[in-house]
Amino acid sequence: MIMTYENVLTEIENGILTITVNRPDKLNSLNNKTIEELHEALLEAENEKDIKAIIITGAGTKAFVAGADIAEFADFNVTQGRQLSATGHFKIFNFIENYSKPVIAAINGFALGGGLELAMACHIRVASDNAKMGLPEVSLGVIPGYGGTQRLAQLVGKGKAFEMIVTADMINAEEAFRLGLANYVTKQEDLLSKCKEIGSKIALRSSVAIKTAIKVINAGYNKQENGYEVEIEEFGKMFGTQDFKEGVNAFLEKRKANFPGN
Ligand code: COA
Repeated sequence: MIMTYENVLTEIENGILTITVNRPDKLNSLNNKTIEELHEALLEAENEKDIKAIIITGAGTKAFVAGADIAEFADFNVTQGRQLSATGHFKIFNFIENYSKPVIAAINGFALGGGLELAMACHIRVASDNAKMGLPEVSLGVIPGYGGTQRLAQLVGKGKAFEMIVTADMINAEEAFRLGLANYVTKQEDLLSKCKEIGSKIALRSSVAIKTAIKVINAGYNKQENGYEVEIEEFGKMFGTQDFKEGVNAFLEKRKANFPGN
Protein backbone atom coordinates (compact mmCIF):
# COMPACT_ATOMS: atom_id res chain seq x y z
CA MET A 1 0.00 0.00 0.00
CA ILE A 2 1.47 3.30 -1.12
CA MET A 3 -1.13 5.85 -0.17
CA THR A 4 -1.67 7.17 3.34
CA TYR A 5 -5.04 8.33 4.57
CA GLU A 6 -6.34 10.73 7.17
CA ASN A 7 -9.29 8.79 8.63
CA VAL A 8 -8.20 5.28 7.74
CA LEU A 9 -5.12 3.35 8.91
CA THR A 10 -3.72 0.45 6.91
CA GLU A 11 -1.35 -2.32 7.98
CA ILE A 12 -0.31 -5.44 6.09
CA GLU A 13 0.88 -8.56 7.89
CA ASN A 14 1.23 -12.05 6.38
CA GLY A 15 -0.90 -11.21 3.36
CA ILE A 16 -3.70 -9.73 5.47
CA LEU A 17 -4.54 -6.05 5.22
CA THR A 18 -6.10 -4.51 8.32
CA ILE A 19 -8.01 -1.30 7.65
CA THR A 20 -8.86 0.68 10.78
CA VAL A 21 -11.47 3.41 10.64
CA ASN A 22 -9.74 6.07 12.68
CA ARG A 23 -12.06 8.74 14.09
CA PRO A 24 -12.32 7.47 17.66
CA ASP A 25 -13.46 10.83 19.09
CA LYS A 26 -16.53 10.57 16.81
CA LEU A 27 -16.89 6.83 17.49
CA ASN A 28 -15.51 6.16 13.98
CA SER A 29 -18.70 7.43 12.35
CA LEU A 30 -18.59 7.48 8.57
CA ASN A 31 -18.31 10.95 7.11
CA ASN A 32 -17.84 11.53 3.40
CA LYS A 33 -14.04 11.65 3.63
CA THR A 34 -13.93 8.33 5.48
CA ILE A 35 -16.19 6.71 2.87
CA GLU A 36 -13.88 8.00 0.11
CA GLU A 37 -10.76 6.82 1.89
CA LEU A 38 -12.19 3.38 2.65
CA HIS A 39 -13.05 3.05 -1.03
CA GLU A 40 -9.56 4.17 -2.10
CA ALA A 41 -7.84 1.80 0.32
CA LEU A 42 -9.95 -1.14 -0.89
CA LEU A 43 -9.34 -0.19 -4.51
CA GLU A 44 -5.61 -0.06 -3.89
CA ALA A 45 -5.64 -3.46 -2.13
CA GLU A 46 -7.67 -5.07 -4.92
CA ASN A 47 -4.69 -4.83 -7.26
CA GLU A 48 -2.09 -6.05 -4.78
CA LYS A 49 -1.66 -9.75 -5.36
CA ASP A 50 0.07 -10.30 -2.04
CA ILE A 51 -2.99 -9.16 -0.11
CA LYS A 52 -5.23 -12.20 0.33
CA ALA A 53 -7.80 -11.02 2.87
CA ILE A 54 -8.94 -7.78 4.47
CA ILE A 55 -9.94 -7.03 8.06
CA ILE A 56 -11.97 -3.89 8.77
CA THR A 57 -12.11 -2.62 12.34
CA GLY A 58 -12.56 0.59 14.32
CA ALA A 59 -9.96 2.56 16.29
CA GLY A 60 -10.12 2.45 20.08
CA THR A 61 -11.97 0.08 22.35
CA LYS A 62 -15.46 1.58 22.28
CA ALA A 63 -16.74 1.54 18.72
CA PHE A 64 -16.43 -0.33 15.46
CA VAL A 65 -18.40 2.35 13.60
CA ALA A 66 -21.30 4.24 15.27
CA GLY A 67 -23.04 4.90 11.97
CA ALA A 68 -23.04 7.51 9.29
CA ASP A 69 -21.89 10.93 10.51
CA ILE A 70 -25.20 12.41 11.65
CA ALA A 71 -23.78 15.96 11.87
CA GLU A 72 -22.74 15.83 8.22
CA PHE A 73 -26.16 14.88 6.81
CA ALA A 74 -28.30 16.88 9.26
CA ASP A 75 -29.17 19.59 6.69
CA PHE A 76 -29.51 17.38 3.61
CA ASN A 77 -32.54 17.65 1.32
CA VAL A 78 -34.26 14.79 -0.55
CA THR A 79 -31.82 14.84 -3.49
CA GLN A 80 -28.78 14.90 -1.22
CA GLY A 81 -30.25 12.14 0.93
CA ARG A 82 -30.74 9.90 -2.09
CA GLN A 83 -27.22 10.68 -3.28
CA LEU A 84 -25.76 9.89 0.17
CA SER A 85 -27.30 6.43 0.02
CA ALA A 86 -26.45 5.75 -3.64
CA THR A 87 -22.82 6.81 -3.26
CA GLY A 88 -22.43 4.71 -0.14
CA HIS A 89 -23.85 1.62 -1.84
CA PHE A 90 -21.57 2.08 -4.82
CA LYS A 91 -18.34 3.00 -3.02
CA ILE A 92 -18.49 0.86 0.09
CA PHE A 93 -21.35 -1.49 0.76
CA ASN A 94 -21.96 -3.18 -2.60
CA PHE A 95 -18.28 -2.72 -3.33
CA ILE A 96 -17.27 -4.78 -0.28
CA GLU A 97 -19.95 -7.42 -0.80
CA ASN A 98 -18.67 -8.01 -4.34
CA TYR A 99 -15.00 -7.56 -3.50
CA SER A 100 -12.65 -10.15 -4.98
CA LYS A 101 -11.01 -10.99 -1.63
CA PRO A 102 -12.77 -11.96 1.59
CA VAL A 103 -13.45 -9.04 3.91
CA ILE A 104 -13.77 -9.74 7.64
CA ALA A 105 -15.44 -7.26 10.00
CA ALA A 106 -13.73 -7.14 13.41
CA ILE A 107 -16.57 -5.59 15.41
CA ASN A 108 -14.82 -4.15 18.45
CA GLY A 109 -17.67 -2.16 20.00
CA PHE A 110 -20.71 -0.20 18.79
CA ALA A 111 -21.78 -1.19 15.27
CA LEU A 112 -24.81 1.00 14.73
CA GLY A 113 -26.61 2.13 11.60
CA GLY A 114 -24.02 2.47 8.83
CA GLY A 115 -21.59 0.68 11.14
CA LEU A 116 -23.69 -2.47 11.29
CA GLU A 117 -24.38 -2.06 7.57
CA LEU A 118 -20.62 -1.95 6.99
CA ALA A 119 -20.17 -5.13 9.03
CA MET A 120 -23.05 -6.80 7.18
CA ALA A 121 -21.54 -5.95 3.78
CA CYS A 122 -18.41 -7.85 4.86
CA HIS A 123 -18.24 -11.58 4.14
CA ILE A 124 -17.45 -12.69 7.70
CA ARG A 125 -18.16 -11.00 11.04
CA VAL A 126 -16.33 -11.52 14.33
CA ALA A 127 -17.49 -9.54 17.38
CA SER A 128 -15.80 -8.74 20.68
CA ASP A 129 -17.88 -9.45 23.77
CA ASN A 130 -18.51 -5.74 24.40
CA ALA A 131 -20.00 -5.22 20.92
CA LYS A 132 -23.46 -3.69 20.55
CA MET A 133 -25.26 -3.85 17.22
CA GLY A 134 -28.37 -2.20 15.90
CA LEU A 135 -30.04 -0.21 13.16
CA PRO A 136 -31.35 2.82 15.12
CA GLU A 137 -32.27 4.92 12.07
CA VAL A 138 -36.02 5.10 12.75
CA SER A 139 -35.19 6.85 16.02
CA LEU A 140 -33.69 9.62 13.85
CA GLY A 141 -36.63 9.70 11.45
CA VAL A 142 -34.85 7.88 8.63
CA ILE A 143 -34.44 4.27 7.56
CA PRO A 144 -31.25 2.27 7.03
CA GLY A 145 -29.82 3.52 3.73
CA TYR A 146 -26.65 1.51 3.29
CA GLY A 147 -28.22 -1.88 2.57
CA GLY A 148 -29.46 -2.58 6.09
CA THR A 149 -33.07 -3.23 5.13
CA GLN A 150 -31.90 -5.99 2.79
CA ARG A 151 -28.82 -7.54 4.37
CA LEU A 152 -30.15 -7.77 7.93
CA ALA A 153 -33.09 -9.87 6.74
CA GLN A 154 -30.72 -12.06 4.70
CA LEU A 155 -28.52 -12.68 7.73
CA VAL A 156 -30.99 -13.03 10.61
CA GLY A 157 -34.33 -13.67 8.85
CA LYS A 158 -37.17 -11.31 8.11
CA GLY A 159 -38.92 -11.48 11.48
CA LYS A 160 -35.92 -10.50 13.59
CA ALA A 161 -34.89 -7.87 11.00
CA PHE A 162 -38.35 -6.27 11.24
CA GLU A 163 -38.07 -6.24 15.03
CA MET A 164 -34.56 -4.76 15.12
CA ILE A 165 -35.35 -2.08 12.53
CA VAL A 166 -38.75 -0.96 13.84
CA THR A 167 -37.77 -0.94 17.53
CA ALA A 168 -34.29 0.55 16.86
CA ASP A 169 -33.06 -1.70 19.72
CA MET A 170 -29.45 -2.77 20.07
CA ILE A 171 -28.43 -6.38 20.61
CA ASN A 172 -25.32 -7.59 22.38
CA ALA A 173 -22.59 -9.83 20.96
CA GLU A 174 -24.04 -13.07 22.36
CA GLU A 175 -27.41 -12.36 20.78
CA ALA A 176 -25.69 -11.45 17.49
CA PHE A 177 -23.89 -14.81 17.61
CA ARG A 178 -27.12 -16.66 18.37
CA LEU A 179 -28.82 -14.97 15.40
CA GLY A 180 -25.95 -15.73 13.02
CA LEU A 181 -25.04 -12.08 12.71
CA ALA A 182 -21.61 -12.75 14.23
CA ASN A 183 -19.66 -15.88 13.24
CA TYR A 184 -17.64 -15.77 16.48
CA VAL A 185 -17.51 -13.79 19.70
CA THR A 186 -14.14 -13.20 21.39
CA LYS A 187 -12.70 -11.17 24.25
CA GLN A 188 -11.75 -7.74 22.95
CA GLU A 189 -8.02 -8.46 23.25
CA ASP A 190 -8.41 -11.63 21.13
CA LEU A 191 -10.55 -10.09 18.39
CA LEU A 192 -7.89 -9.24 15.83
CA SER A 193 -5.97 -12.46 16.35
CA LYS A 194 -9.16 -14.46 15.70
CA CYS A 195 -9.73 -12.47 12.49
CA LYS A 196 -6.10 -12.97 11.47
CA GLU A 197 -6.42 -16.70 12.11
CA ILE A 198 -9.34 -16.81 9.67
CA GLY A 199 -7.40 -14.61 7.24
CA SER A 200 -4.35 -16.88 7.38
CA LYS A 201 -6.47 -19.88 6.33
CA ILE A 202 -7.86 -17.85 3.43
CA ALA A 203 -4.30 -16.90 2.41
CA LEU A 204 -3.39 -20.58 1.92
CA ARG A 205 -6.25 -21.29 -0.50
CA SER A 206 -6.69 -20.53 -4.18
CA SER A 207 -7.39 -16.81 -4.60
CA VAL A 208 -9.00 -17.47 -7.99
CA ALA A 209 -11.36 -20.04 -6.51
CA ILE A 210 -12.17 -17.73 -3.57
CA LYS A 211 -12.92 -14.79 -5.88
CA THR A 212 -15.21 -17.03 -7.91
CA ALA A 213 -16.94 -18.44 -4.82
CA ILE A 214 -17.74 -14.90 -3.61
CA LYS A 215 -19.19 -14.05 -7.02
CA VAL A 216 -21.35 -17.17 -7.17
CA ILE A 217 -22.66 -16.93 -3.60
CA ASN A 218 -23.68 -13.32 -4.28
CA ALA A 219 -25.34 -14.32 -7.57
CA GLY A 220 -27.91 -16.28 -5.58
CA TYR A 221 -29.02 -13.08 -3.85
CA ASN A 222 -29.31 -11.14 -7.12
CA LYS A 223 -32.82 -11.31 -8.58
CA GLN A 224 -31.37 -10.79 -12.07
CA GLU A 225 -29.33 -13.99 -11.86
CA ASN A 226 -29.87 -17.69 -11.25
CA GLY A 227 -27.23 -18.73 -8.73
CA TYR A 228 -27.30 -22.36 -9.84
CA GLU A 229 -26.69 -21.44 -13.47
CA VAL A 230 -23.90 -19.04 -12.54
CA GLU A 231 -22.40 -21.85 -10.44
CA ILE A 232 -22.36 -24.25 -13.39
CA GLU A 233 -20.60 -21.70 -15.64
CA GLU A 234 -18.08 -20.60 -13.04
CA PHE A 235 -17.38 -24.16 -11.91
CA GLY A 236 -16.51 -25.04 -15.50
CA LYS A 237 -14.19 -22.04 -15.83
CA MET A 238 -12.16 -23.18 -12.83
CA PHE A 239 -10.89 -26.12 -14.87
CA GLY A 240 -9.00 -23.66 -17.07
CA THR A 241 -7.02 -22.09 -14.20
CA GLN A 242 -3.46 -22.76 -13.07
CA ASP A 243 -4.71 -22.83 -9.48
CA PHE A 244 -6.92 -25.82 -10.30
CA LYS A 245 -4.01 -27.69 -11.89
CA GLU A 246 -1.79 -26.95 -8.91
CA GLY A 247 -4.47 -27.81 -6.35
CA VAL A 248 -5.31 -31.15 -7.91
CA ASN A 249 -1.66 -32.07 -8.62
CA ALA A 250 -0.69 -31.21 -5.05
CA PHE A 251 -3.43 -33.47 -3.73
CA LEU A 252 -2.43 -36.37 -5.98
CA GLU A 253 1.26 -35.86 -5.11
CA LYS A 254 0.38 -35.71 -1.39
CA ARG A 255 1.92 -32.26 -0.87
CA LYS A 256 0.67 -28.82 0.08
CA ALA A 257 -0.59 -26.68 -2.79
CA ASN A 258 1.33 -23.54 -3.69
CA PHE A 259 -1.22 -21.61 -5.70
CA PRO A 260 0.05 -19.21 -8.38
CA GLY A 261 -3.18 -17.20 -8.10
CA ASN A 262 -4.33 -17.36 -11.70
N1 COA B 1 -22.45 10.67 13.86
C1 COA B 1 -21.77 11.74 14.30
N2 COA B 1 -21.19 11.81 15.51
C2 COA B 1 -21.31 10.73 16.31
C3 COA B 1 -22.01 9.57 15.93
C4 COA B 1 -22.59 9.57 14.64
N3 COA B 1 -23.25 8.50 14.16
N4 COA B 1 -21.96 8.67 16.94
C5 COA B 1 -21.26 9.25 17.92
N5 COA B 1 -20.85 10.49 17.55
C6 COA B 1 -20.06 11.46 18.32
C7 COA B 1 -20.88 12.13 19.40
O1 COA B 1 -21.61 13.21 18.85
C8 COA B 1 -19.80 12.57 20.34
O2 COA B 1 -19.16 13.71 19.81
P1 COA B 1 -18.79 14.98 20.75
O3 COA B 1 -17.84 14.42 21.79
O4 COA B 1 -18.14 15.94 19.81
O5 COA B 1 -20.08 15.42 21.35
C9 COA B 1 -18.79 11.42 20.28
O6 COA B 1 -19.05 10.76 19.05
C10 COA B 1 -18.95 10.42 21.40
O7 COA B 1 -20.29 9.94 21.41
P2 COA B 1 -21.27 10.01 22.70
O8 COA B 1 -22.68 10.03 22.21
O9 COA B 1 -20.84 11.12 23.59
O10 COA B 1 -20.93 8.62 23.38
P3 COA B 1 -21.88 7.79 24.37
O11 COA B 1 -21.00 6.74 24.97
O12 COA B 1 -22.63 8.68 25.26
O13 COA B 1 -22.96 7.09 23.39
C11 COA B 1 -23.69 5.92 21.38
C12 COA B 1 -22.56 6.15 22.43
C13 COA B 1 -23.12 5.05 20.27
C14 COA B 1 -24.88 5.24 22.06
C15 COA B 1 -24.12 7.29 20.83
O14 COA B 1 -22.98 8.01 20.39
C16 COA B 1 -25.08 7.20 19.64
O15 COA B 1 -26.26 6.92 19.83
N6 COA B 1 -24.58 7.48 18.42
C17 COA B 1 -25.40 7.53 17.22
C18 COA B 1 -25.71 6.13 16.75
C19 COA B 1 -26.66 6.19 15.57
O16 COA B 1 -27.81 6.58 15.67
N7 COA B 1 -26.16 5.78 14.41
C20 COA B 1 -26.96 5.69 13.22
C21 COA B 1 -26.70 6.83 12.35
S1 COA B 1 -27.68 6.73 10.87
